[in-house]
Amino acid sequence: MRVSAKTGMLCVLTAIGLVAAGSANSSDSLPEGVTAVKAAPPSKDHPLEELFSGWHFRAPETQSLQQDDFENPGFLWVEQGEALWNTVDGSAGKSCASCHNDAAESMKGVGAAMPKWDAKLKRPMTMEQRVNNCRTENMGAKEWKWESNQMLSMTAFVRNQSRGMPVNVQADGPMQSWAEKGKELYYSRVGQLDMSCANCHEANYGKFIRADFLSQGQSNGFPTYRLKWQKLGSLHRRFKGCMANIRATPFKRGSDEFVALEIYLAQRGKGLQVETPAVRN
Ligand code: HEC
Ligand code: HEC
Repeated sequence: MRVSAKTGMLCVLTAIGLVAAGSANSSDSLPEGVTAVKAAPPSKDHPLEELFSGWHFRAPETQSLQQDDFENPGFLWVEQGEALWNTVDGSAGKSCASCHNDAAESMKGVGAAMPKWDAKLKRPMTMEQRVNNCRTENMGAKEWKWESNQMLSMTAFVRNQSRGMPVNVQADGPMQSWAEKGKELYYSRVGQLDMSCANCHEANYGKFIRADFLSQGQSNGFPTYRLKWQKLGSLHRRFKGCMANIRATPFKRGSDEFVALEIYLAQRGKGLQVETPAVRN
C-alpha cells in the first residue's frame, strides 16, 4: 500500500499526540522591555506569513512572569552577570568593564546582531564563543563552560542590553554558507520520529503537542528561564532537547551544526525584538 507523505506525516503527529487547537493566545499586554511580539517576515519568500515571539503562545500565568522584571526569575542571572562584568579575573588583572566600560552603552545592540563573523578566526562567533574568546585572549582567564552559571549569567546580561531591539544578524557575505547549512539542518528529517524542526515549528505552530502549545521556535528570548528547568538555559540546550524529543542524537553545544542552526534561526526571526531573559514553561 502506498501512503502519501502527507498522510504519513499526520500519522506520526497523531502518534506523538499532536492535535489541532484554536488560535494562539491573544493578549494585549506585552513582556517588559519590548514594544511588539510579532513582526513582518524579513523577505518575500519567507516561509512564515508573520513572525511571532514564543511569548505569544504561552499561557497567561507564564506570560505574567515576563511582564515585570521583579517577577521574572531570569533577572537573577542578569544581576549575577552584571556583577561578573565588573569582577577582575585572569592573569591580565582585568574585568570586562576594564575594556568595555559601561555595558549599557558598549553592548547595546551587540546581542541583537549575534552570531557575528570574526574576520581573524574566519568563522562566526556566538555570544558564548565571543565571551570565552575575550576571557582567554584578552584577560588570561579560563573559558567558562557553555551551560555554566557564569556563562548563562554573562550572556543574559549582555543580551539584555539589546532588549527591545530587533534581531539584526548579518547572515549574508561570509556567513551565508553557514546560514545555508543551518537551513539545511532545519529542514532535515532526523531521529526515530523522522521529523524536522520545520515539521513542528513551521507546519504546526499554534497547535498542541501533548500538553505543550507549539510556537514558531524563535530564538529572540534566549538565554531563557524555563519553569521546567527551574533555571536559565542556553539556546543550544533547547536545540538538544528538541532533538532528543524526536529521538535523534543531538549535536553538542557549541558545535558547528548548532552554530549554523543558530544563525539560520536568527535570520529567520529577523525583526522580532530581543526579549532576553524570556520566561517559558
Ligand atoms: C516534535 C516537535 C518538535 C520538533 C521536531 C522540534 N521542536 Fe522545538 N519545540 C517543541 C516544543 C513542544 C517546544 C516548546 C513549546 C514551543 O515554544 O513551541 C519547542 C521549543 C523550541 C524553541 C524555544 C522557543 C521559545 O520561544 O522559547 C526553540 C528555539 C526550538 N524549539 C527550536 C527547534 C529546532 C532548531 C528544532 C530542530 C532541530 C526543533 N525545535 C524541533 C517541539 C519541537
Ligand atoms: C583587554 C580588553 C578586553 C577585555 C578585558 C574584554 N574584552 Fe571583550 N572585546 C575586546 C576587543 C578588543 C573586542 C573586539 C573583538 C576582538 O578583536 O576581540 C571585544 C569584543 C567583545 C564582544 C563583541 C562586541 C561586538 O561588537 O561584537 C563582546 C560581547 C565582548 N567583547 C564581551 C566581553 C566580556 C563579557 C568580557 C569579560 C568576560 C570581555 N569582553 C573582556 C577587548 C576586551
